[in-house]
Amino acid sequence: MATAGAESRRVAAVTGGSRGIGRAVVDALLADGWRVHFSSLSATSVEAATAALAAEHGSLAKGHSVDVRDPRAITGWIDAVAETEGRLDCLVNNAGVGGFAPVDQISFEEWRRVLDTNLHGAFWALRAAARQMKRRGGGGWILNIASLASRNPFAGGAAYNASKYGLLGLSEAAMLDLRHHDIRVCAILPGSVDTEFREGGDGSWKLAPEDVARAVTDLLRYPERALPSRLELRPTRPPKR
Ligand SMILES: NC(=O)c1ccc[n+]([C@@H]2O[C@H](COP(=O)([O-])OP(=O)(O)OC[C@H]3O[C@@H](n4cnc5c(N)ncnc54)[C@H](OP(=O)(O)O)[C@@H]3O)[C@@H](O)[C@H]2O)c1
Repeated sequence: MATAGAESRRVAAVTGGSRGIGRAVVDALLADGWRVHFSSLSATSVEAATAALAAEHGSLAKGHSVDVRDPRAITGWIDAVAETEGRLDCLVNNAGVGGFAPVDQISFEEWRRVLDTNLHGAFWALRAAARQMKRRGGGGWILNIASLASRNPFAGGAAYNASKYGLLGLSEAAMLDLRHHDIRVCAILPGSVDTEFREGGDGSWKLAPEDVARAVTDLLRYPERALPSRLELRPTRPPKR
């Protein structure tokens, strides 16, 4: 574990940090000596994670209930983190939902829920973080948790594929916009991860949330001159088709 003094700790914001991949990212960043602000949708989920984290990390982890679909709420949260901490070194855009149905059977509400969370929510957070990082001038990282579904369509995946293809495009365009400000943007594309996201069946072959968190902390160790912009992370032995 790193031994950074409280004043010198780097500051991260993680969306969807209460459980699953986001929670593993929060744990890994704390273990590496970061101060971490995380958000999730439900207050209950945030309270449970905050209580568990406080026992081990005291006030180094702070949780807030913020719906990424609400542009003012997510922008306000990112701004508040940067302004109260006086810095923002990393955003992990992780909040996401599934929503799987044949294209002609997707309701308006379900289409909007998936796109508003996975794509628009990530955009609002990225935009707010980029503005804060540019204004402060110290560079930073924006890591977008995309998916192998950002490159591989599947039946029943119209909404999810559209959101994750969009997120990959957003991530790579933003990378080109922001690199000369020392803001490094990278899309992480995991395959199946064993979380509550898509339960059922044998999950033993899947990635663990900690594997994705490891990708995050490994990326954050790259020297300033290097910009990995896309990382695909696959389970070694998925079921054979
Ligand atoms: N699991 C996989 O196989 C897999 C594979 C590739 C990529 N991914 C991506 O990885 C990310 C995390 O997935 P996961 O498996 O960890 O999912 P998960 O276990 O279902 O957790 C999702 C997290 O996102 C939060 N969230 C959902 N909607 C939100 C909203 N509108 N505003 C704020 N927070 C919201 C949830 O908050 P609450 O706790 O309040 O509900 C929760 O913290 C997603 O973007 C997903 O697409 C997952």
